[in-house]
Amino acid sequence: MENNTTDERIVSTERLDVGEDLSLRPRRLADYIGQKNVTDNLKVYIEAAKARGDALDHVLFYGPPGLGKTTLAGIIAAELEADHRITSGPAIERAGDLAAILTNLNEKDVLFIDEIHRLHHSAEEILYSAMEDYEIDMVIGKGPSAKSYRIDLAKFTLIGATTRAGSLSAPLRDRFGIISKFEMYTPGELAEIIRRSAKLLDIEIDAESLAELARRSRGTPRVANRLLKRVRDFAQVRGSGVIDRSITDETLRSLGIDKMGLEGLDRDILRLIIDKFSGGPVGIDTIAAAIGEERVTIEDVYEPYLMQAGFLHRTKQGRMATRDAWLHLGLTPPETDEQLAFVYDESETGV
Ligand SMILES: Nc1ncnc2c1ncn2[C@@H]1O[C@H](COP(=O)(O)OP(=O)(O)OP(=O)(O)O)[C@@H](O)[C@H]1O
Ligand SMILES: [Mg+2]
Repeated sequence: MENNTTDERIVSTERLDVGEDLSLRPRRLADYIGQKNVTDNLKVYIEAAKARGDALDHVLFYGPPGLGKTTLAGIIAAELEADHRITSGPAIERAGDLAAILTNLNEKDVLFIDEIHRLHHSAEEILYSAMEDYEIDMVIGKGPSAKSYRIDLAKFTLIGATTRAGSLSAPLRDRFGIISKFEMYTPGELAEIIRRSAKLLDIEIDAESLAELARRSRGTPRVANRLLKRVRDFAQVRGSGVIDRSITDETLRSLGIDKMGLEGLDRDILRLIIDKFSGGPVGIDTIAAAIGEERVTIEDVYEPYLMQAGFLHRTKQGRMATRDAWLHLGLTPPETDEQLAFVYDESETGV
């Protein structure tokens, strides 16, 4: 196993990314790079809602962490010229907390609920009528003297974000009029994001380094921005302050990020499947226990990129390493196909 300290990880497992640079977050649609499938349609819906003087329909964003869900939610509010309130599933402890937020919303306000799949069930139930009929029923008191009150709400827009749409209950999911899936970014889009960030941070970087960082950012803008800052540190201390190819390579090497953008823990996962289980299938809980990482973290943070890069498959029987994974680790893959993840099981990979 490679030695990973949490601090060295460039793939953050933190849900709330405390160190994130807010100055790099695009504020308007024009500055938001990529995710064209999502933004092209949204542009139309935003324009139509504004022309009608109506609130935008409720929006659900789902996809792996760091792809720009929170950012785009903020942009939608800005484009709608609407007020924007932010909360998250785990932050709402009781149904009353959510009721208080909802009753304070004004017409056409945007309420953003991050990690909406972690909303407590009692709060979720309040959302059903709030989203559909713009009203909530509150029960005050207990026992025979309890009374139910109906409270009318302003017509607002809910934007929910989740890394796991599969964990959302059907009644909640069905109440979103717009459901958008976030895809990983292409190296070209990431290069554009890095170029923009470098300009904002006043960093000089050559074209070759830009392309290399883009390739190694796991399709994720958050990772791209973080890598850029680490390379800047190396350029400042070891080089002339300008980011060139040798500084870039040195930084990536010191961070343990390989040619495909994998870091130590990614390789630990693949190596475990290959060394201990001859390529799989292995159950996710077994992997989590052996690696010493939480199951949800492996599922939400590490696996999406390993699958995207073609190194890992999820099957009904468990996780399997692909032929490319063996080769990437410098190992000789088995001859027989049964030991490799050739059977791609769609049912287990969907969200
Ligand atoms: N399309 C984009 N263009 C430019 N920068 C982006 C884009 N998307 C994301 N970023 C950058 O990446 C950072 C992470 O994005 P964001 O916090 O919106 O991700 P997220 O999908 O909400 O992640 P999580 O699921 O962890 O909450 C942002 O601070 C922003 O700087
Ligand atoms: Mg977010």
